[in-house]
Amino acid sequence: MIELTIQNARVLLSFYLHMNQQTSNVVQFYTGEQIPLELHKVRVVQKLYLVPVERRLAAIGEAGYNTFQLSTRDVYLDMLTDSGVNAMSDNQIAAMLRADDAYAGSQSFARLEEAVKEVFGKKYLLPAHQGRAAENILAHAYVKPGDVVPMNYHFTTTHALIDLNGGKIEELVADEALQLASDNPFKGNMDIAKLRDCISLYGVDKIPFVRMEASTNLIGGQPFSIANLREVRAVCDEFGLRLVLDASLIGENAYFVKTREAEFKNSSCAEILKTMCELADIVYFSARKVSSARGGGICTNNLDIIKEMQHLIPLFEGFLTYGGISVREIEAMAVGLYETTDETVISQSPSFIEYFIREMVRLGIPCVTPAGGLGAHIDAGSFLPHIPQSQYPAGALAAAFFIASGVRGMERGTISSVRDEQGNDVPANVELLRLAFPRRVFTLSQIRYVIDRMKWLYDNRDLIGGLEFVEEPPVLRFFMGRLKPTSDWPDKLAAKFRQDFGQSL
Ligand SMILES: Cc1ncc(COP(=O)(O)O)c(C=O)c1O
Repeated sequence: MIELTIQNARVLLSFYLHMNQQTSNVVQFYTGEQIPLELHKVRVVQKLYLVPVERRLAAIGEAGYNTFQLSTRDVYLDMLTDSGVNAMSDNQIAAMLRADDAYAGSQSFARLEEAVKEVFGKKYLLPAHQGRAAENILAHAYVKPGDVVPMNYHFTTTHALIDLNGGKIEELVADEALQLASDNPFKGNMDIAKLRDCISLYGVDKIPFVRMEASTNLIGGQPFSIANLREVRAVCDEFGLRLVLDASLIGENAYFVKTREAEFKNSSCAEILKTMCELADIVYFSARKVSSARGGGICTNNLDIIKEMQHLIPLFEGFLTYGGISVREIEAMAVGLYETTDETVISQSPSFIEYFIREMVRLGIPCVTPAGGLGAHIDAGSFLPHIPQSQYPAGALAAAFFIASGVRGMERGTISSVRDEQGNDVPANVELLRLAFPRRVFTLSQIRYVIDRMKWLYDNRDLIGGLEFVEEPPVLRFFMGRLKPTSDWPDKLAAKFRQDFGQSL
């Protein structure tokens, strides 16, 4: 039976290798225009509604000026996240139908293990229902009160779970990574001198692991280079530290390595991906991102590491061969992992983001450059210099953009930050409006609409005012917090829209 499973996986792999023969989506247009061409066709569609500006204004008020609280009934383009909402392929949907429903020993899980082995090069896999669940297991197993986790940059859930276990984080990207407009191709790199300082400051015993995040989410989906990852590995080896890789956005990081790091220009994304994973002791991932299905996991080649964590899986997630994930999704994860190594799949979102960012730069709209993975990031601090950080410019921009367009983005600024022990806001390093580009979901005319409405909003930016909290949860407040505008600026913005656009939606 196991033989049969492995054989199935091999058939699948050879199918994808065959499909991978077309390795790029760069197609030159006769006119010279630079247009990212879709190398897929749309076969299942979902109807969308663009509601009038008056309804958008009412909806954002009902949502407490928090785009997480909007109903998709009121949303035209949902650019909140790419998590769990990438388009699935025909092969993923087909695989879901053959799922092996079993509490223990499911063949679906065996197929996922095989995919993890082929794609990440890791022999052992612990399933977890999503990325933060994997982080919960890791933090529970390794982080003790007083510990410090050095990382290139934090992700919200990573930070919260390390805090919850009594640890703290140290962010070690180079200072330059926080310069939003830049031409540094690898802003996700860790500053090696800072890593050494951090180790000598806290001591090896206080450091349970070093964490590198692929396509560093909160600074604009910015990648690290393999040269940098090798240096981090060397320091970890020198001090006997574990290296943990957050691979949630590793496909995009692999694509940027291929297109930006000379050593790898002739390597396939599959080779690059494996090279990155080989350098880490532990790789964990949100399958909601990396494999366009809903799940997560932790993998390694070290059986001792598995033993340190595996007892936590049945406790927090589910049995070791499903980990809280539906077996159908496990099948889709396996296929999605192979597809993540296909450059025509993985390049779609970054090439659309690049198109969008190119237009932002042309229109003089402040944004994060170079274009990164997962989404386009508008620099809310420069867009709205008249709004102090204490009035949440990124949150205000997200709300204003929804009123202007029906497009839902996500605040990634001080609302996504925390308060200190005295209850004061900790101002975020960067104030960003993130517009996520889930893989193969939007068409180019939809993206042109987003560009058009962003230009209108930029021309009317003086109308936008700040926000203040009216309800503030103690942890991860950006999910459920409710805010209100500091004046009647949303009404004025909607009225100006109506004046400029007449009867148009
Ligand atoms: C880099 C990174 N790590 C971890 C997570 C958490 O994953 P999940 O949303 O599946 O819990 C995310 C999700 O957006 C992420 O971007």
